[in-house]
Amino acid sequence: MARDGALYACQSCGAVQTRWSGQCPACGAWNTLVEEIGARPPGALKLTKATRKTGLAFEGLDESTPAPPRIVTGVDEWDRVCGGGVVPGSAILIAGDPGVGKSTLLLQVAAQAARRGVRCAYISGEEAVEQVRSRAQRMGLADADVKLAAETSLRAIIDGLKAEPFDLVVIDSIQTIWSDAHEAGPGSVTQVRAAAGELVRLAKKRGLAVVLVGHVTKEGTLAGPRVVEHMVDAVFSFEGERGYPFRILRGAKNRFGATDEIGVFEMGDAGLAEVKNPSALFLNTSGERAAGAAVFAGIEGSRPVLVEIQALVAPSAYGTPRRAVVGWDGGRLAMILAVLEARCGLSFGDRDVYLNVAGGLRISEPAADLAAAAALASSAFDVALPQDCVVFGEISLSGEVRPVSRMDGRMKEAAKLGFRRALGPADADPAAGMAFIGAHRLADAIQRIHDGDWETR
Ligand code: TYD
Ligand code: MG
Repeated sequence: MARDGALYACQSCGAVQTRWSGQCPACGAWNTLVEEIGARPPGALKLTKATRKTGLAFEGLDESTPAPPRIVTGVDEWDRVCGGGVVPGSAILIAGDPGVGKSTLLLQVAAQAARRGVRCAYISGEEAVEQVRSRAQRMGLADADVKLAAETSLRAIIDGLKAEPFDLVVIDSIQTIWSDAHEAGPGSVTQVRAAAGELVRLAKKRGLAVVLVGHVTKEGTLAGPRVVEHMVDAVFSFEGERGYPFRILRGAKNRFGATDEIGVFEMGDAGLAEVKNPSALFLNTSGERAAGAAVFAGIEGSRPVLVEIQALVAPSAYGTPRRAVVGWDGGRLAMILAVLEARCGLSFGDRDVYLNVAGGLRISEPAADLAAAAALASSAFDVALPQDCVVFGEISLSGEVRPVSRMDGRMKEAAKLGFRRALGPADADPAAGMAFIGAHRLADAIQRIHDGDWETR
């Protein structure tokens, strides 16, 4: 009965034999040996280690991989943050506060893509089809062939997406989708994880791109989309300060592109307008720059962005002085204040300190250190910086001004916008048309601000 190479597994104890017999030699049970494909003979590991091919096909780092194909939607700011368009079969999470404009953005993305022949679906779990349609009409997108549906049942959505071929699907929002396989309520971690998991699997299997909308609340009461972040290929945040029309799409994770890229939009009556050149957007161009304001020559993603940093240093009315910061990191502000105190003798112990980044932008670059310090010193001394001056440079704990990336690009953009002076790290090469004031140490820069000394030497 035994054949060459055949293996027999006992259905009772699991022991594997190389020949068939009526009774299992291992457990003694009768008629339990069955020929099994893929069963391993006893001691197989030792025998086959050297000869058996491994299941992993290893490859070298130097082999070339074709770039993934991209769905170009035609909304350039969106496409750039994606890394040149949406990759088919990928899943993207857009996280943002309620009301920031996520639905508006994705409706525009879907509509623009549809106009280019991309097969798009927009599934809303929050609004009725009429609401989405009337918004699309108001935004002048009624002609675009986007398939709309209002649905919250995961099963219905998956079935619907299997029935028709789509390239790009928007699910608005993941918190409203529920699966009947789980008892937890919609929006719970269990439901969000289950729905996202199934949609991501569907995306991979069918090669369609899925964009999931996720609300984040400051209180974190809704099961945040944090659980989804690990499942998707890209996470973008959509940000904007209340009272400002500017909205920023920022890559937080991207398997198919750079994560420091931003897209800039302006919310208006007809939806979001793309801001193709945001460099002057966050500058306060009306009127003179007062004491306490410094223009930071920043880089956001691949583009230079000039932004005004405003500081107010005022005597503290209470025992504990206040520190408040908008658009920058509070910890970074504490560090700059400590360095100003320890290395420059500028004390803020009995002062309230407020720092604000104009226009609702959020800065994360360390290159903004010197601009923040300059704004603080300018307010503390009540001396305005020259109107035509930009500032950049990182500050170390020892009080040195460190060089930052792309100093030339920063200055060139500033020169283009009419700035004629730059204050920065000592070893930077000034760009054409720029008077450059280099500072080795923060104390040098602070002294200049104090004295109003802007001579280049
Ligand atoms: P929405 O996209 O619904 O936000 P989200 O999906 O992130 O919750 O946008 C809501 C806000 O945008 C709302 O306050 C109104 C404003 N808005 C405009 O100012 N202009 C417009 O054309 C649209 C569609 C919305
Ligand atoms: Mg919405």
